[in-house]
Parts: sequence; structure tokens; C-alpha cells
Amino acid sequence: MTKFAIALPVIIAGLLLATAVAADPLPGERVFKSQCGACHTVDKGKNRVGPSLFGIVGRESGKVEGFRYSAANSAAKLTWTTEVLDKYLTNPKEGVPGTTMTYAGLKNEQQRKDLIAFLGEQK
Ligand code: HEC
Repeated sequence: MTKFAIALPVIIAGLLLATAVAADPLPGERVFKSQCGACHTVDKGKNRVGPSLFGIVGRESGKVEGFRYSAANSAAKLTWTTEVLDKYLTNPKEGVPGTTMTYAGLKNEQQRKDLIAFLGEQK
């Protein structure tokens, strides 16, 4: 009994740590809806205020057909890898100076990871 009482908190702490580092697309979808959904869809060819984010992970910046990008986004010449997206989404104005994406940034690292995992599945 005493052994069990000691082991259980250790196991729980281990489980919490394990979930803290993993990128999970399921909560990522919720983050997308609440943080990005007003301006973006993940449907191919469906632009809103912002371009469709269908297939965004691994794509070059400024390539969505029919979307009129700012000069800044057009000239950025980035490839939206997981790492580049992570940096951009933390602070878009720093990632692409002059962007017309009026979004302050997603400061929560776990939410960014989950969101990018979700975006990676939209292809
Ligand atoms: C207030 C509206 C708005 C919100 C909220 C918003 N965006 Fe955007 N986003 C835009 C606009 C507008 C652009 C085009 C920027 C430009 O041309 O400078 C853009 C561009 C982008 C691009 C570059 C696309 C490309 O093809 O180069 C990415 C990636 C992106 N947004 C991801 C996101 C994600 C992920 C979120 C949520 C965390 C988000 N955005 C939230 C409006 C928004």
C-alpha cells in the first residue's frame, strides 16, 4: 500500500510530462478554429481575409492562387516548414515584417505545436 501510494504520483507526473511535449492535432483543430478560423479555412481554394491554409506545411509562401498577398508576403520567399511556421505564428510581424495578417501571435508553445500538427494533416 505504501509503495503504491508513492508510485502513483510518480506515474501521474510521468504521464503529464509525456503529454506536455507531444504535438497533438486534435486540440490543434480547436486552436485553429478559435485563433485562425475567422480569416482562414483549410479547404482547398477557399480563401477568406487570409489565404486557404490547405497544404500549407512544406509549401512556399505566397503561392495560393487567387489570393492577393501583400508585397511583404509575396517577397518573403519562405518555405512553411514546421520550424518556420512556429517562428512566424509566435509573432507574424517579426516573421514577415510588413505582413497584412493582423494577428498578434500565438504565444503558447503547446498550442502552436498542436496547431501545426493539425495543419500538417490538411493536405
Ligand atoms: C485577422 C485575420 C487573420 C488571422 C486571425 C490569422 N490570419 Fe493568417 N493571414 C491573414 C492574411 C490577411 C494573410 C496574408 C498576409 C499578407 O499577404 O501579408 C495571412 C497569411 C498567413 C500565412 C501565409 C500564407 C502563405 O501562403 O504564404 C500563414 C501561414 C498564416 N496566415 C497562418 C495563420 C494561422 C495558422 C493563424 C492562426 C494562428 C492565422 N494565420 C491567423 C489573416 C489572418
